[in-house]
Amino acid sequence: MIKLNRRIAALKGSATLAADARANEMRAAGIDVIPLAAGEPDFDTPERIKDAARRALAEGKTKYTAVSGVTELKAAIRHKLKRDNGLDYEIAEIIATAGGKQAEANILATLFDEGDEVIIPTPAWVSFSAMVALSGAQPKLVPCPEGDGFMLDPDRLRKAITPRTRGIIINSPSNPTGAVYSTEILEALAKVLLGSGIWVFSDDVYEHIVYDGSAPHIFQIEAGLKQQGIVFNSLSKTYAMTGWRIGFAAGPREVIAAAGRLQSQNSGNPNSIAQAAAIEALTGPQDEVGRMAGEFRARRDLVVERVRKLNGFRLPNVPGGAFYAFPNVSELIGASLGGKAITDGDSLAEVLLNEAHVAVVGGNDFGAPDHVRISYATSRENLNKAFDRLERTLARAKK
Ligand SMILES: Cc1ncc(COP(=O)(O)O)c(C=O)c1O
Repeated sequence: MIKLNRRIAALKGSATLAADARANEMRAAGIDVIPLAAGEPDFDTPERIKDAARRALAEGKTKYTAVSGVTELKAAIRHKLKRDNGLDYEIAEIIATAGGKQAEANILATLFDEGDEVIIPTPAWVSFSAMVALSGAQPKLVPCPEGDGFMLDPDRLRKAITPRTRGIIINSPSNPTGAVYSTEILEALAKVLLGSGIWVFSDDVYEHIVYDGSAPHIFQIEAGLKQQGIVFNSLSKTYAMTGWRIGFAAGPREVIAAAGRLQSQNSGNPNSIAQAAAIEALTGPQDEVGRMAGEFRARRDLVVERVRKLNGFRLPNVPGGAFYAFPNVSELIGASLGGKAITDGDSLAEVLLNEAHVAVVGGNDFGAPDHVRISYATSRENLNKAFDRLERTLARAKK
């Protein structure tokens, strides 16, 4: 038996990446699986961004850069935070990272110790609790009922706070629920948090994939929170740049400087070519962002309509953003399908992969075992094909 580090030994791999990997293995074996598991836009990265990368390569921008990213990139991020979020940050308050994941993992590791608690309203993205646990802190999962649109309210927040609470993660629009927090709820949460000594993390990676107006930002609603807050963002979803691995964090300079020291030791700068592409993405014309969001809206409408017709699926809340539907499948628990018992969302996802050749992710690791997550970051044609299969397969479910 090899003895692993205690925290790594307890670490599970990402459920979403595992579901996607299983679908890819089946595809490689010649099975026509329709993947609705990955959180990845199907669009190609816009040409102007690829051109910037080609130019960077031709100009020999192939060397180490400043660990926290080149100044032009941090200036572009600063410009974006002002333009899109109305937030003012200095260059020294910004760090560029290898994807949003690295920004979050490094900042959490920078701030927390054993004995600290970090509040995560659930259902939540699978990596939040894993990254909190890796920092040594304890994830404090706070279930938010479907009847409240899966959103945290001030009462639940107050009850979850203990003397050990050091942070809270807010993700709006949410992966996996698509919930978008309103100005009113954010105001009420901000009142509880302001001056509490609790770090407020705002994960904004889906900010531009939103269907009714825009997603309000908690630090804009309550400017005082910026002193105790960190913005997390990424170019992955907004610009269809998942493979380029560029994300960033913005917050008080001491925290950003400390996260920079960590990054200097564990990975160094984000990819130099991707940084050049990111500068173009953030500062060039932004019309493709709205175009992609428009297509996601049409898919959202299609998915809501079709999910609601599936035997045993309920979807009371229409997702207001991101590109996921998170239907409740509790009616199917206790049923059998293809000779297999359905005990939770994860077992249903497995049966659907084997019987319908459609990959979705079970809700267990999102903190909602009675649900499955369906990603609609694929063409409407593929979605219709997938729902035809799901309809036929689920009609065979027996109680
Ligand atoms: C809520 C949320 N935050 C952050 C990320 C990180 O994205 P990336 O590391 O590709 O920038 C993801 C990706 O799925 C996400 O869903």
